[in-house]
Amino acid sequence: MVIKNLKVAFGSAEILRGVNLEIPPNTITALMGPSGSGKSTILRVLNRLIELYPEARVRGDVLLDGQSIFKMDVIELRKRVQMIFQIPNPIPNLSIFENVALGLKLNRLVNNKKELFQRVKEALEKAQLWEEVKDRL
Ligand SMILES: Nc1ncnc2c1ncn2[C@@H]1O[C@H](COP(=O)(O)OP(=O)(O)OP(=O)(O)O)[C@@H](O)[C@H]1O
Ligand SMILES: [Mg+2]
Repeated sequence: MVIKNLKVAFGSAEILRGVNLEIPPNTITALMGPSGSGKSTILRVLNRLIELYPEARVRGDVLLDGQSIFKMDVIELRKRVQMIFQIPNPIPNLSIFENVALGLKLNRLVNNKKELFQRVKEALEKAQLWEEVKDRL
């Protein structure tokens, strides 16, 4: 990804004032800085979650494989560019099972219900949650 002269303001507060950054593929890139310096704001731009904040004004461009993310289908972009939040955000109107199964279903990664159940169970076991939630999935 290439970030070009990215500027983000919330109302009159300019949070990002012209960020230029290249994020190479297949490597880990870490952003470091004091609380409030705009790290999460950059991440919210990269998959356009920033558009959920009507007060945010975004200028500049972000290229993914040479193409502007702002001209892409937002769903396709978010399938490739994702954000893991500091605090988990289960979807409140879905059950525990459905929350865990959602990604597998949307991306058609399982073939049948049995396999889906097995993958959900595995995921909950890895997160040390299975014993706690297995009776109220
Ligand atoms: N919706 C918003 N409206 C107004 N100001 C906002 C909004 N969201 C973030 N900000 C401001 O933008 C600045 C950057 O916030 P951001 O969350 O990106 O910082 P951060 O570097 O991720 O901080 P932390 O290390 O605490 O996670 C902060 O000053 C914050 O108060
Ligand atoms: Mg943050």
